[in-house]
Amino acid sequence: MKLKNAIQLLFFAIALMFIAPSCVKEGPMGPAGATGAAGTNGTNGTDANQTCKMCHTATKVDLISTQFVFSKHSSGEAAISEAGNVGCTPCHAQEAFKYVCANNVPATFTLNTTTGKYVNNYNTDITAAYGELGCSTCHSALHTSYSTADLAFTTVKPVPMTMWGGAKVIDLPADGGKSNLCVKCHQPRPFTNALTGNVLDYNALATTVGTVYDGNPSGATNIIKPSYRTHTHYGAIGAVYAGKGGIEFPGALAYTSSTHTTVASCSDCHMGAMNGKAGGHTFSAVGNLTTCNATGCHTTQVTATTTTLWLNPRAEIKALLATLASKLSIGGVEIMNRNGDSATNLWYGITTNNYDGYLNIYDPITNPTAQTYNTKSFKYVGTPPATWSTDQIAYNASLPIITLSNAQMGAIINFQLCLRDYSLGIHNFQYTKALLTNSIAKL
Ligand code: HEC
Ligand code: HEC
Ligand code: HEC
Ligand code: HEC
Ligand code: HEC
Repeated sequence: MKLKNAIQLLFFAIALMFIAPSCVKEGPMGPAGATGAAGTNGTNGTDANQTCKMCHTATKVDLISTQFVFSKHSSGEAAISEAGNVGCTPCHAQEAFKYVCANNVPATFTLNTTTGKYVNNYNTDITAAYGELGCSTCHSALHTSYSTADLAFTTVKPVPMTMWGGAKVIDLPADGGKSNLCVKCHQPRPFTNALTGNVLDYNALATTVGTVYDGNPSGATNIIKPSYRTHTHYGAIGAVYAGKGGIEFPGALAYTSSTHTTVASCSDCHMGAMNGKAGGHTFSAVGNLTTCNATGCHTTQVTATTTTLWLNPRAEIKALLATLASKLSIGGVEIMNRNGDSATNLWYGITTNNYDGYLNIYDPITNPTAQTYNTKSFKYVGTPPATWSTDQIAYNASLPIITLSNAQMGAIINFQLCLRDYSLGIHNFQYTKALLTNSIAKL
């Protein structure tokens, strides 16, 4: 039976129930009873409609959802592609993020006595390794009490740095600690020691003379196996903004932080009034400098042509990045990879040579444009994968071998952090300048 017919039949049946009794003959009516005592007043119920309206109005949830469409939190694809991966989802998927926050999952590494190797503990549970980033990623109490308490943040607690295996902790208490919410995800990932699986000893890179890779793929002391993808991952901002976690070579400049670190919050600059497609819940600051004085911090209006607060500091950091990249070369071949394609290089345009923070190591599968933008790359480390063509294998064999000292490795990490910070020093000028200047001096 079709649904529509079924509904018609149901209505017919109900109608019959009301019609039928009227056909029955009634007897005479009895006398009226005495009036009962008045009942006590009931307690006022909460008006569901009113609590909903606290958030469900045209200017709150409706408008915010419209802005959120422009946020990469919403449009980014990594939440879908990394679903099921317990190591990636703590930053890429909603349920995984809520899991690591609720369970205080530590950022430590521990020795697995069976394999003799260290493992990274910063993982979610396999049952929670999913979920696109949405409103309740950050407001995880939504629809629990239907009060303003529901807008509380999933976390504002200090963030043990996964890059440092928890040995360093970022705490940005300004503005109620809202930046800690952002940094829980916008932080760099760890480099691991290829021999032990433990987090890399970054202090040794900064202060000890040595080698992390000697050029021989089967060398017994190589703690790094360099590849195109030897990188800090993308959350550089957390470390740079907090002024913590770079490779701090002793040098002329002290590792201090700009005033932003203590007085401003990520949302102060990234979630101000909408301006074009930036501000509010787009979370973007691109092309929007109205927040610099709207927050009452800077007294003059900053624009894209302001010299002291925009052009000059950015030009200085851009020049330092270029100098450091030129120092990071072996036999005339650059270690840092260039990628002049604006569609695949997230840091396109930040440096003149369009470095992307990856290493210039030949790999036609993961780095297919290397030969378009780099004059020459380093040879792939190890045996080329079976998927390579004979031409690719032959070309690879003709390339120079990469070697990396402690100092070069430390400088590479600092280059990646300062490039991938995106802001060319606006986030934390002093720390960015110190990392780059002291790295250049070290090389
Ligand atoms: C503290 C703020 C807040 C309150 C109070 C609130 N909501 Fe929501 N509600 C939200 C947010 C945020 C969303 C998600 C919007 C989105 O995904 O774009 C939402 C989504 C919804 C949805 C869409 C369901 C979905 O998952 O897509 C419904 C239906 C809803 N709310 C009903 C209600 C009702 C009914 C009430 C009152 C009893 C209420 N809400 C109170 C914040 C609130
Ligand atoms: C749950 C982890 C998480 C939290 C919390 C988080 N982010 Fe993100 N953010 C991401 C991820 C992941 C991406 C990239 C998404 C993708 O590409 O799939 C991103 C992208 C962004 C982007 C776009 C970057 C670009 O490449 O254009 C901005 C800006 C941003 N976040 C700012 C913030 C701010 C500000 C906060 C705090 C209010 C915050 N985020 C909190 C994980 C997070
Ligand atoms: C500690 C948090 C964290 C972890 C763990 C993490 N990511 Fe990310 N990832 C981020 C953030 C934050 C961004 C976006 C940063 C930005 O654009 O400024 C990002 C960006 C990306 C992007 C780029 C998306 C784009 O816009 O092009 C990819 C791809 C990605 N991550 C894959 C992975 C994979 C695969 C893993 C696991 C092996 C992983 N991530 C683990 C924080 C993390
Ligand atoms: C990446 C983290 C994050 C996500 C995702 C997020 N918010 Fe927020 N939300 C914040 C932060 C941080 C603030 C405080 C902003 C400020 O300081 O101005 C906020 C504030 C709010 C407020 C209070 C602002 C006001 O005008 O009263 C509402 C309502 C809200 N968010 C709703 C939403 C809705 C709806 C979504 C999904 C469409 C969402 N949020 C997604 C981080 C987030
Ligand atoms: C003092 C203001 C300020 C503060 C505070 C700030 N940012 Fe930014 N951020 C900027 C500016 C300016 C840019 C560069 C925008 C451009 O390229 O036009 C930027 C760029 C970015 C980008 C890449 C471009 C984008 O906006 O989509 C991300 C991601 C980002 N910041 C995240 C953060 C996070 C996370 C925090 C907190 C730890 C933070 N920012 C704190 C001003 C700020």
